[in-house]
Amino acid sequence: MLSVCKAPGKLILTGEHSVVYGEPALLAAVGLWTKTLVKRVGGSIINLSSKQLKGNQSLDIESVLVFWQKAKEAWEAWQSGVSSNLHSIRKDQLVVLKVTAGEFLNKFAKEDLGFEIEVDSEIPVGSGLGSSASVAASVIGGLCRAFEVELGSEDLSNTVFEVEKIMHGNPSGGDNTAVVYGGFLKFEKRDSKFSFRQIEIKASEAYKIILVDSGKPVESTGEMVEKVGENFKQRRAKYKKTINSMGRVAKDFIKDFKKGVFNKDLISQNQKLLDELGAVGGRAREMVQLIEELGGAAKICGAGGIRKGSGILLCYHEDGDKLKNFINQQKWSYYSVDLGVEGVKWRQ
Ligand code: PMV
Repeated sequence: MLSVCKAPGKLILTGEHSVVYGEPALLAAVGLWTKTLVKRVGGSIINLSSKQLKGNQSLDIESVLVFWQKAKEAWEAWQSGVSSNLHSIRKDQLVVLKVTAGEFLNKFAKEDLGFEIEVDSEIPVGSGLGSSASVAASVIGGLCRAFEVELGSEDLSNTVFEVEKIMHGNPSGGDNTAVVYGGFLKFEKRDSKFSFRQIEIKASEAYKIILVDSGKPVESTGEMVEKVGENFKQRRAKYKKTINSMGRVAKDFIKDFKKGVFNKDLISQNQKLLDELGAVGGRAREMVQLIEELGGAAKICGAGGIRKGSGILLCYHEDGDKLKNFINQQKWSYYSVDLGVEGVKWRQ
């Protein structure tokens, strides 16, 4: 019998990067879905496949656990500043599936745990929409259903967070939280702990948002977070001011958003601050400028990227049709998505 589990993607409306330094962020689960099919096959064979990653691997339980253990050790070493092979581990095409499967096997190891999983995701990889968290949540959710294992939402979110650490180094925990709980969330990270609150909003202008692709970043989220961290270390006073301003923008944006107001000026301010921080590349900057000239606002909505693309741009205009026509004219690829959708569907 096949078990199915779907998990959404996530979008950062405001607060990326500054969230790593303790400022609040506003996250939304987005209606781009990862679907995982799980089949129990007994024995010790694990088959992993992903349509988007174009990979298919057949391993035994022991090798998955060895891979997972090595990834954990590499992360620990990287974390304590010791040279580590974390980057080369990430080069494995199916690293996210193997580490996720490893998390599950480590928690629930028992006899005859063999399974096949097939992952199919609508979320572009490495573009700021939480693809790895979505994949990890849908895989764990699917495995829990297939093996009739009970896991609370908090445990699921924490397990996905473990996978995110391998993929991104020092993630804030926002992606796992958004894809597991869904909706709109005010999210904060203090020291190593994170907290969140779901935000109820009525009819919102946010539904006019269009997500435009500025090109896949060459840099990973982890590399961008490290880069900003280095800038921060070198010019502490300047960058601290930028981060504080980003925090203020996020707080004001959230206040308006709760009232159903989409404050586009704050989106533009947020983008400028992200650019100051060194997270925006030339192409994204030009695209944002064109949208501002049209009377709209746009910002990167993830870690960004500077050498080539900067990932997905959140674009907004009071006149949604005008924005869509413009994007079509420019022949930019885009997604019109539902925002604030429900989290991982693993219990129904
Ligand atoms: O690029 P994404 O979607 O993984 O978002 C990264 C957001 C950062 O604030 C830069 C890092 C984080 O973990 O919150």
